[in-house]
Amino acid sequence: MPLLPTWPHHIAPISRLPHSRGPRVISLLGKGGSSKTTTAIQLAGTGAAIGRRVLILDTDPQRSASGWRALREDTRISVKTCRPQDVADLVSRASQAGIELVLVDNPPVRSAASDAIAAAADLSVVMVRPSMLDLVVGMDWITWLNAANHQFAVVIGAAPPMRAGTEAPFVREARMALRQEVHRLWRGQLTLRHAVIESVGVGATLMETEPDGAAAGEFCRLWIGLMAELERTR
Ligand SMILES: Nc1ncnc2c1ncn2[C@@H]1O[C@H](COP(=O)(O)OP(=O)(O)O)[C@@H](O)[C@H]1O
Ligand SMILES: [Mg+2]
Repeated sequence: MPLLPTWPHHIAPISRLPHSRGPRVISLLGKGGSSKTTTAIQLAGTGAAIGRRVLILDTDPQRSASGWRALREDTRISVKTCRPQDVADLVSRASQAGIELVLVDNPPVRSAASDAIAAAADLSVVMVRPSMLDLVVGMDWITWLNAANHQFAVVIGAAPPMRAGTEAPFVREARMALRQEVHRLWRGQLTLRHAVIESVGVGATLMETEPDGAAAGEFCRLWIGLMAELERTR
């Protein structure tokens, strides 16, 4: 049975993307509260909606992704609770299980395992909220990723809404600061919306609760952007 009875309009461009060989690995990094877990869940929802087999590796001791999984009965999105040092091993096992995309949900603070996780990932994604405190921590991750020569992109999340097609001043300023240090800055934004909180709160994803809504559209656009980055870094 398909996950969705109809194809929501956001899905149409995604469903044309070619399938990849073996699991691709995206690792989500950033300050506590920067929306790593929320983004992992919503990207997993987008992947599941187009029939991709997605695994979230929950390496954060706070176990938020695992808590979300416990609220769900649907088994199409797998969540595995694990230690950061076990990520590389679990990624190689995911291949045998037919997983196509692994999303690593990281703890907020770097550890001895962070380098191995970034090395196991095809792409690290630094989640940044458009505020001074968040930018400082985001920049620290960016400096570290640049120094270690890891592939990464930066995504602005939990952002105030755009007005008449124009970004809020906070977002514009954050973008200007990030552009100095970052080659791959996602041109979209993930907007703060009740729909995002509500879907996670009931153990669901936006593609299950409001697949045609604006919030789902943003995560679908992010999915498309990240798939393009994976193609580029292949
Ligand atoms: N786009 C969004 N809209 C509304 N709330 C959001 C959004 N992204 C994140 N949040 C909220 O921000 C808080 C932190 O998000 P979370 O995903 O737990 O961050 P992290 O995993 O980086 O610590 C949570 O309460 C979450 O519901
Ligand atoms: Mg988290």
